[in-house]
Amino acid sequence: MVLVLGIESSCDETAAALVDGERRIVAQRIASQDDAHRPYGGVVPEIAARAHAERIAPLIAAVLADAGLELGDVDAIAATAGPGLIGGVMVGLVTAKALAMASDKPLIAVNHLEGHALSPRLADPALQFPYLLLLVSGGHCQVLRVEGVGQYRRLATTIDDALGEAFDKTAKILGLGFPGGPAVERLAREGNPKAVPLPRPLLGSAEPHFSFAGLKSAALRAKQAMDGAGASTSSARAGVVTKPNPARPEPVEGPALSPPSYTDADIAAAFQQAALDCVIDRTRRALTESGGLTALVVAGGVAANQTIRGGLEALAAEFGLPFVAPPLALCTDNAAMIAWAGQERLAQNNFAPDPLDIAARPRWPLDPDAAPVRGAGVKA
Ligand code: KG4
Ligand code: ZN
Repeated sequence: MVLVLGIESSCDETAAALVDGERRIVAQRIASQDDAHRPYGGVVPEIAARAHAERIAPLIAAVLADAGLELGDVDAIAATAGPGLIGGVMVGLVTAKALAMASDKPLIAVNHLEGHALSPRLADPALQFPYLLLLVSGGHCQVLRVEGVGQYRRLATTIDDALGEAFDKTAKILGLGFPGGPAVERLAREGNPKAVPLPRPLLGSAEPHFSFAGLKSAALRAKQAMDGAGASTSSARAGVVTKPNPARPEPVEGPALSPPSYTDADIAAAFQQAALDCVIDRTRRALTESGGLTALVVAGGVAANQTIRGGLEALAAEFGLPFVAPPLALCTDNAAMIAWAGQERLAQNNFAPDPLDIAARPRWPLDPDAAPVRGAGVKA
């Protein structure tokens, strides 16, 4: 039985896993760095790189021990070689190179996005090519036609923020802490999505792409409006007497603006609904333009979101396609998907190990032929 060791270190999870050719995750461990980054409200690349360097060797040793195996029992070593935070990627890739060299086993340099793109096939043996993949993570929001291992055609991407990034920023606006996506989803359950009107950027647009920056900014303005109005009403309700401030002129009496009467939960729910509407509209467009598909598939961290999953499931049904979403633990960053991508590569007729001098890549588009899109800060 072919056994691949996978290593993942492109963002803030240090992870190692052993996956065999029968799709069994023989052992896996994930060391999250959430606590180290929480005070900063986001991932700090330098802290991430140092944490990966401290944790990666003991983590790999622990995964081998969990399986009762040694490095010599492994057939190949797969590691994320990009895209991602370059310090972390280098730690994982250099570790994989050292292990490959010491054990004389093939090195497989995996594109992190390819790990996400193929992860649904680890969970579902029946999933065949070509499928339409919505890849939604902290750094990416893309629709890809997955035609085979190493064959990815990008049909759409974001012209500004990634979807997970928009979730994280909205969480920050609402003071929900880090990581933000799951917190926004939890709070949204208590809110009314119709209570706050938010825009749906590029909905119905002739171009295929996504945009979330305007939605996030609208969520910020809604929060500011709510806090502005809420502060005065709550102090009035509590009977607080405020001293006149000479630096600030007394407000001129005029027609009263009705204060927004929504809550943080309403903003979270409205944001999530607007994001979902955009995702469905853009994915529907891609499905309409792309024929011969076997399934609609979602992967990446935001695929853990139940509302997004539910919307996509209904969309797949509209097109008569099966809907495939990996289990939650395979959606967020993990090393089992990297080991599985290694298995898929090994199974190719023309498999060749990667050279030991292969470079880590901070940017590494899955579809190198995809045309550049308009807009600043474009994610590859
Ligand atoms: O794939 P991933 O673990 O890392 C990257 O490669 O980026 O994705 C992380 C992203 C974060 O932005 C996180 O907030 C988001 O996925 N995320 C979610 C949920 N769980 C994770 N977003 C919305 N709802 C969730 N339940
Ligand atoms: Zn990822």
